[in-house]
Amino acid sequence: MSRVKAAVFASGAGSNFQAMLDESDLACEIVLLICDRPGAAVIERARKHQIPVYQFDPKQYATKEAYERELVTVLKKARVEWIFLAGYMRIVGSYLLHAYQGKIVNIHPSLLPDFPGKDAITQAFAAKVDKTGVTIHFIDEGIDTGPIIAQQTVDMYPDDTIRSLTKRIQQVEHKLYPKIIKQLVQNEGEL
Ligand code: GRF
Repeated sequence: MSRVKAAVFASGAGSNFQAMLDESDLACEIVLLICDRPGAAVIERARKHQIPVYQFDPKQYATKEAYERELVTVLKKARVEWIFLAGYMRIVGSYLLHAYQGKIVNIHPSLLPDFPGKDAITQAFAAKVDKTGVTIHFIDEGIDTGPIIAQQTVDMYPDDTIRSLTKRIQQVEHKLYPKIIKQLVQNEGEL
């Protein structure tokens, strides 16, 4: 039986993408990387694993709907059922949201609703909280506002630097995201 197909949207280093590829029991097959940033390190990771990459430049389109229409065509052609965002720095618009309702998931490096948006780790660090963490959530039209699927706390220590905190958060991300992906796919979106 062929496995459920998924696409990852990423614009950066791709360490979460790599964690998904390294998970032997993800319950789905990553068949496509979608990337909006030329030269992003994540692209090289995909190539090493022979995963097709679809690159696009949003500036070449008149509207968000115009490029999302094209993305949906590409996704449907690849029979993608799930979309996992991992460092995709763009707000998903209503066209893509409706095409993949309840099937778009994001990972964010804070305990939402605290510290949404960019630089969540720096925000938490500056706020001197003693705990921050990782959130996995469904996407809606807001910035990091969709229904929460899972959260894991990460302690912050007095001698932490942004770098040490980032490392600890990423270690949690790389375990939590593959685990939640597997559960979601196996349970068809119910946890
Ligand atoms: C992760 O911290 C994720 O939570 C956030 O963007 C970062 C992506 O890192 N949304 P990477 O590209 O997976 O290394």
